[in-house]
Amino acid sequence: MADKLVIFDTTLRDGEQSPGASMTRDEKLRIARQLERLKVDVIEAGFAASSNGDFEAIRTIANTIKDSTICSLSRANDRDISLAAEALKNANSARVHTFIATSALHMEKKLRMTPDQVFEQARQAVRFARNLLSDVEFSPEDAYRSDEDFLCRVIEAVINEGATTINVPDTVGYAIPELYGNFIKNLRQRIPNSDKAIWSVHCHNDLGMAVANSLAGVKIGGARQIECTINGLGERAGNCSLEEVVMAVRTRRDYFGLDMSVDATQILAASRMVSQTTGFVVQPNKAVVGANAFAHASGIHQDGILKARDTYEIMRAEDVGWTANKIVLGKLSGRNAFKQRLLELGVQMESETETNLAFAKFKELADRKSEIFDEDILALVSEESVALGKEQFAFVSLAQHSETGEMPQATVIMTIAGKEVTGTSNGNGPVDASLKAIEANVKSGAEMVLYSVNAISGSTESQGEVTVRLQHSGRIVNGVGADPDIVVASAKAYLSALNKLHSQADRVSAQG
Ligand code: KIV
Ligand code: ZN
Repeated sequence: MADKLVIFDTTLRDGEQSPGASMTRDEKLRIARQLERLKVDVIEAGFAASSNGDFEAIRTIANTIKDSTICSLSRANDRDISLAAEALKNANSARVHTFIATSALHMEKKLRMTPDQVFEQARQAVRFARNLLSDVEFSPEDAYRSDEDFLCRVIEAVINEGATTINVPDTVGYAIPELYGNFIKNLRQRIPNSDKAIWSVHCHNDLGMAVANSLAGVKIGGARQIECTINGLGERAGNCSLEEVVMAVRTRRDYFGLDMSVDATQILAASRMVSQTTGFVVQPNKAVVGANAFAHASGIHQDGILKARDTYEIMRAEDVGWTANKIVLGKLSGRNAFKQRLLELGVQMESETETNLAFAKFKELADRKSEIFDEDILALVSEESVALGKEQFAFVSLAQHSETGEMPQATVIMTIAGKEVTGTSNGNGPVDASLKAIEANVKSGAEMVLYSVNAISGSTESQGEVTVRLQHSGRIVNGVGADPDIVVASAKAYLSALNKLHSQADRVSAQG
């Protein structure tokens, strides 16, 4: 039997650390459900000690998800580890992931600790964690730039304390595939008790090699867990992309000889859900999940594909979920068809009220747009929590007037903590006027650092999906809104970003 490769998804933790990618509890839960359908082995659901919101999100995910192990990150101290264990206490299968930096640079400049102090803290943290849970992962942060002798000392000690997984992060994306693979191989050979733990790779993409480095860590180094995120989401240039490593190991099983539990047909749905939730658009030429990944435009390629698919295709589009997405709903589709499609997309409504509300919005949209695509449905459910009054700011309606040669004006009606307010403003254009009308009431003082519009399904009849990125007091959030009217979509996106700023106010960063 082939060895098993553990897929550890950290979209909801390391992915979420990407500026602007913060997610609400409900958004995280929806993505966790999709990750469970994707059959990833481990879901790192967050960093419990970072904020009440993250603690609650981890707790909710741990209470709901049954088939994947749920993990929380924690710094190497008793308080963080206790909070992580508390958030995970109802999980079917739970893991604490504790970390401390081991590179000279991080120890001296960031932690202001001596190597001996770091050694002791790592040991005690793992000992403490093992008293609470049997599944404990340890990461020496910035491992790849750490002194090898010191790293061997720390890792041997934490395995002796009972660490069950040893993760070797290339925190700053500095590694080269062959070197990283050999680095892990050496560590495993040098550390006497290395066979008592599963070895894991965790690579960042600063030089565009996160996937290649992770695969080298597996092939050369003998690691049997890959930490990755959907769409490669993550700080700076991102993390190792789940869809790419999974399809590489699967497509080249002849080379890797490893088995995984992942159901690859769920990849596209996961990619779309993450992109729609965070507002991080997937580039068209992105491997596996980009819009062009399976499109053959050149005449020679098309001719070859028609004669024999494998002339130009090494994977089948349907194997990663592409064809499933072609199904469209319309005006005549009933509640059951709608519910069924939601389930197929991995969206589970919390209550009948939520389903009814979503169905009413679907009908409203179907009256304005003849075909409803999966992306429309996902955009529609993304707005659910706003519609259910769970959010501080919610859109009600908008009227705007613009005419060539005149200054556009907009009036926006919205609710703040459930109370209806109206704002009116002029602006450079109708979008500018509408957002200023919102600001007239909210007075957030946030700076807009990005505004982008994307047609959800490619035609002028499609919904416009707007992403707004706001910055305030050092925090960056993205808001996404969709509507056939792009001015309305812009107002919704702006309000969604304001809601995130409002709910993330107390967050502490993991590596700060
Ligand atoms: O990149 C990194 O070092 C991390 C650790 C916390 C595992 O994300
Ligand atoms: Zn990381």
